[in-house]
Amino acid sequence: MKSARRLLFSLCCALTLQIFTGGSPAPLPDRDLDLNRTLSLELDLSAARRRVDPRFLSVTIDASLASEERFMSLLSSAKIRTLAAALSPAFLRFGGTRQDFMVFTPQRRRRAAAAASCDVDVLPWFLEERLKEDWTRQQLLLRTEDLQRKYHRVHFTELTVDLLHAFSNCSGLELIFGLNALLRTADNSWNSSNARSLLQYCESRGYRMSWELGNEPNSYEKKAGVRVDGDQLGLDFTRLRDMMSESKLYRDAGLYGPDVGQPRDHRVDLLEGFLQSGAHAIDACTWHHYYVNGRDTSLEDFVDPEVLDTLTLKTNEVLEKVQLVSPGKPVWLGETSSAYGGGAAGLSDTFAAGFMWLDKLGLGATLGLGVVMRQVFIGAGSYHLVDDNLDPLPDYWLSVLYKRLVGPEVLAVRAGSGYGRSKRVRLYLHCTNRSHRPGAVTLMSLNLSKKPARMSMPELVSSSTVEAFVLQSERPGEEGLYSRSVRLNGELLKMVDDTTLPVLAGARLPPSEHLQLPAYSLAFFVLDAKAAACH
Ligand SMILES: *[C@@H]1O[C@H](CO)[C@@H](O)[C@H](O)[C@H]1NC(C)=O
Ligand SMILES: *[C@@H]1O[C@H](CO)[C@@H](O)[C@H](O)[C@H]1NC(C)=O
Ligand SMILES: *[C@@H]1O[C@H](CO)[C@@H](O)[C@H](O)[C@H]1NC(C)=O
Ligand SMILES: *[C@@H]1O[C@H](CO)[C@@H](O)[C@H](O)[C@H]1NC(C)=O
Ligand SMILES: *[C@@H]1O[C@H](CO)[C@@H](O)[C@H](O)[C@H]1NC(C)=O
Repeated sequence: MKSARRLLFSLCCALTLQIFTGGSPAPLPDRDLDLNRTLSLELDLSAARRRVDPRFLSVTIDASLASEERFMSLLSSAKIRTLAAALSPAFLRFGGTRQDFMVFTPQRRRRAAAAASCDVDVLPWFLEERLKEDWTRQQLLLRTEDLQRKYHRVHFTELTVDLLHAFSNCSGLELIFGLNALLRTADNSWNSSNARSLLQYCESRGYRMSWELGNEPNSYEKKAGVRVDGDQLGLDFTRLRDMMSESKLYRDAGLYGPDVGQPRDHRVDLLEGFLQSGAHAIDACTWHHYYVNGRDTSLEDFVDPEVLDTLTLKTNEVLEKVQLVSPGKPVWLGETSSAYGGGAAGLSDTFAAGFMWLDKLGLGATLGLGVVMRQVFIGAGSYHLVDDNLDPLPDYWLSVLYKRLVGPEVLAVRAGSGYGRSKRVRLYLHCTNRSHRPGAVTLMSLNLSKKPARMSMPELVSSSTVEAFVLQSERPGEEGLYSRSVRLNGELLKMVDDTTLPVLAGARLPPSEHLQLPAYSLAFFVLDAKAAACH
């Protein structure tokens, strides 16, 4: 451990940063105990604990957007494409409850193929306005369907796939299409004939994409009165993989599943049965996670460290099961957000949601998840990154900053001291995204408490600099948590125009300078640590 460089953080009202070459952290002066609740943290910069996929932060579009095909045209909006492009590299998963009610019904007499160029296809503004209004109405219908659990069969044509593919390809996202697993034969095995004709169409168009089959099969009985056990589902995936193998284009394409709900009751048995018969067919094992029920939650839940910690339990349960049956298989969150049931209106779309989102990204990477797909990029419910007026919400800006600043190498950060341990300050550490700054590390921090605090970072190393990106609500205090706007280092974030994002500038701080880390803040600190693990 001689070469291991350790950083010791003293976190309190004043945050002090020092570098030690080996040895244990210096004891903190006792006299500070009463007035300064001191938390000392150790950062190990010698080696990465693990690596996540470069597309770790990914997004979804809920299949409900295709409930009427014309809504898919929203994806041709120049603004939406600009917003999506800032999240590349990432997966775009198209799926959700309605994917298991969708039937491909080609029209064949379609208009000339969707434009080959990404520019000529943009949506005229009057059409965009019209679609936005209609989509608001459509969501009421969808909600009623969800509450009654009565789903209509949705027929979709080539147009849906064309628009999805053009959107993802032109934004630099990698499309994952969720196939309908509820098309079944008399003996309850998957009827693959509809999927075959969809794959054939996509191949004829040369669309590079990956696949999934079925969404939350654990609730098929509730949604459709059909029961499918894990073993059968694994066989269905094997069949899909065989079908893909026959295709030149999809022979090496990704297949992910089973998109099971988070561990509860029989869901773990379903996962186990699935892995036993189907693990060889998939490239990653996917499951879904939400912290709370959108209809029955509150602001307290959104900033409660105990609620945030529940992710650990669920993740470990899934990881253990996969490790047991199919060791080494990557585990991904295939769909995830703050609250299920479409999100919690007034919370999932506000600054408050950022605590669940950034903590999920930090904790998920630490625990060993390879990819986390956020429900949703745009569309369904209130947990979207971009709202129904196509304006970005606080979690969108948080996601863009994460992409720019956080690299795939996960480093260790731990509380080195027993006293003053604050559950309300949460920290995660990664190498900095190399294209931002090689050798640097990015410290992500969440402060879930009310009171403001001052941080000072005296003499890191002589040549080092600190670049701070502090996100706060546009309004101060608890009331501000309900805001749908966010400030970066004091500047309100909004698009310059429909095709231009604002400059997301960090505040460059000389090593000895003091900085504020306000209450209820989310922050990224890029530390020029010249970490061995990050070169
Ligand atoms: C807290 O600790 C810092 C650094 O050790 C010290 O400068 C400051 O005076 C302390 N604050 C109080 C209120 O004791
Ligand atoms: C978009 O399509 C082009 C042409 O098929 C391909 O080279 C490129 O890799 C695609 N990009 C993505 C992100 O799928
Ligand atoms: C599968 O579905 C297709 C299309 O609906 C139908 O024609 C075919 O008979 C089905 N196959 C089986 C084995 O059920
Ligand atoms: C790092 O950030 C740049 C933009 O600054 C982006 O193009 C690149 O894809 C990011 N890398 C990752 C792994 O997200
Ligand atoms: C977060 O706020 C709390 C309470 O006001 C404060 O004690 C703590 O020092 C702050 N955290 C950091 C990292 O400054």
